Amino acid sequence: MLNNMGLSKAARIILVGAPGVGKGTQAERLLQRFPQLSAISSGDLLRDNVKNQTPLGIKAESAIKSGALVPDAMILRLILHELKHRGWIQPPKGTVGLNLSTTAREQDFGAEDHFVNSPTLANLAAPPRTSDDPSASFILDGFPRTAGQAGQLDNLIPINLVVSLRTPAEVIIERIAGRWVHAPSGRVYNTTFNAPKVAGRDDITGEKLTKREDDDEETWMNRLAKFEETSEPLLNHYAQKGVLWEVSGNSSDEISPKLFKEFEERFAEGPRDP
Ligand SMILES: *[C@@H]1O[C@H](CO)[C@@H](O)[C@H](O)[C@H]1NC(C)=O
Ligand SMILES: *[C@@H]1O[C@H](CO)[C@@H](O)[C@H](O)[C@H]1NC(C)=O
Repeated sequence: MLNNMGLSKAARIILVGAPGVGKGTQAERLLQRFPQLSAISSGDLLRDNVKNQTPLGIKAESAIKSGALVPDAMILRLILHELKHRGWIQPPKGTVGLNLSTTAREQDFGAEDHFVNSPTLANLAAPPRTSDDPSASFILDGFPRTAGQAGQLDNLIPINLVVSLRTPAEVIIERIAGRWVHAPSGRVYNTTFNAPKVAGRDDITGEKLTKREDDDEETWMNRLAKFEETSEPLLNHYAQKGVLWEVSGNSSDEISPKLFKEFEERFAEGPRDP
């Protein structure tokens, strides 16, 4: 049994990993082990704002409907809103004043509408103040994916740990190649650990097993190439900031204990006296 662990300061983390490396699994395990961690997903924020028809949601929806990508600035604003709403960031010091640039900054922390039309966060002349309270800890998912986006996020909130999850490509390919599903029930088999009793057939119904769309090797290789192209500059960006940490393993179970240990050393409370 895993015991829960308290944090001594805010962890603001991002997980980076190739498709199939088990990023979601590691995130779930961290959230479970460290209850003060929250998940903030840019995709969920976007969906919620569209659903609730907030000013930002309406703008994003029209971008999506016209077939455009939702602009980075809009995603950043969704994140800014969320962090502000949770009380994890506050306006920079000295924003109570009368000069014009101050007013612009105050507006960024003011009514929702001010966020909607402003194209960038560049008018945040100084970064917001960030809460270091352990309860202000989060895993940010879905953003940033590029070095450019990471630079923009730096203006909003300093990420203090970026974990690069590494599994050799041949290991992921082997896993993908061995995975078969019984589509009607969702039962998953893999030829290495959990082979069906009769090859290619579901144990219970005897029906034919199929491959998931994601489990096509060529599709995966294309996704990997795309990932490597954008993640290299992204990881370099965070390496330069001194917050990058790399962990390797052939499976999620091999990676988790290493990740927990590092995370605890950086953020957890020291061992309690017996
Ligand atoms: C094989 O399947 C089992 C059960 O679904 C799963 O726990 C395991 O992680 C899978 N292994 C691989 C290499 O996909
Ligand atoms: C991980 O997989 C690689 C490639 O298949 C293999 O060379 C290596 O020994 C494996 N490592 C462990 C710890 O199983």
